[in-house]
Amino acid sequence: MVNGSEHRVRTFNARRGRRSALTDARLLTLLPRYAVPPAVLAPPGAPGRPECVVLEVGCGHGAAALAYAAATPEAHIVALDVHPPGVARMVAAVDAAGLSNLSAELADAVEFLAERVPQGALDAVHLFFPDPWPKTRHHRRRFVSPDTLELLAMRLTPAGRVLVATDSPDYAAYVRVVVAAHGGFVVRDAARPTWRPVAGYEAKALAAGRPVCDLVLERS
Ligand SMILES: C[S@@+](CC[C@H](N)C(=O)[O-])C[C@H]1O[C@@H](n2cnc3c(N)ncnc32)[C@H](O)[C@@H]1O
Repeated sequence: MVNGSEHRVRTFNARRGRRSALTDARLLTLLPRYAVPPAVLAPPGAPGRPECVVLEVGCGHGAAALAYAAATPEAHIVALDVHPPGVARMVAAVDAAGLSNLSAELADAVEFLAERVPQGALDAVHLFFPDPWPKTRHHRRRFVSPDTLELLAMRLTPAGRVLVATDSPDYAAYVRVVVAAHGGFVVRDAARPTWRPVAGYEAKALAAGRPVCDLVLERS
């Protein structure tokens, strides 16, 4: 069982180093404007809750989250990453685009899911190009794990779905195995979402000739 307060294996490496003045300024002035409104993380049917609530895990600099928000005005997307420069760049882009249906947090998605999201509050989770952690001894750091699948199953609505995209065939195979063993979801090959721009890690993968695999996990 995932509990944000107890010691657990992280799905990311805390990157140290100096932050630029621009990143700091954006995080200080813009990030608070895009904090998650309380009604967004309310159970379906609660007053003020958007028609559809989506969480993106590891949004990087937010290209997919921004495109989803623009293409789906009736939905609200909560985009999370632990990497400050990416989140800072995303909130600057959201501000420039004038989008009001995207919230951002500099947060560990596992902790956020465990501590901030009520049961059955999410219609979808997007996991695009998660860190592949290719070495066998690091597989336990992969975001898709028995514990996070259990957490996702509790936080999604009964019709909720997880969209996964990866350029690592090994990660895609791993997802199928872990999902089958968990039993709470079925995994299918999915069409590439038309709204997702070819950006970030997807652009790098395609430029290097690595095909991209899109999967959807549906509650069983
Ligand atoms: C390979 S990058 C992909 C970024 C972006 N999705 C893209 O397609 O360009 C993976 C991202 O996931 C983030 N990440 C990993 N584990 C995370 C977690 N538990 N919570 C939030 N972000 C996480 C990393 O900081 C990194 O920015």
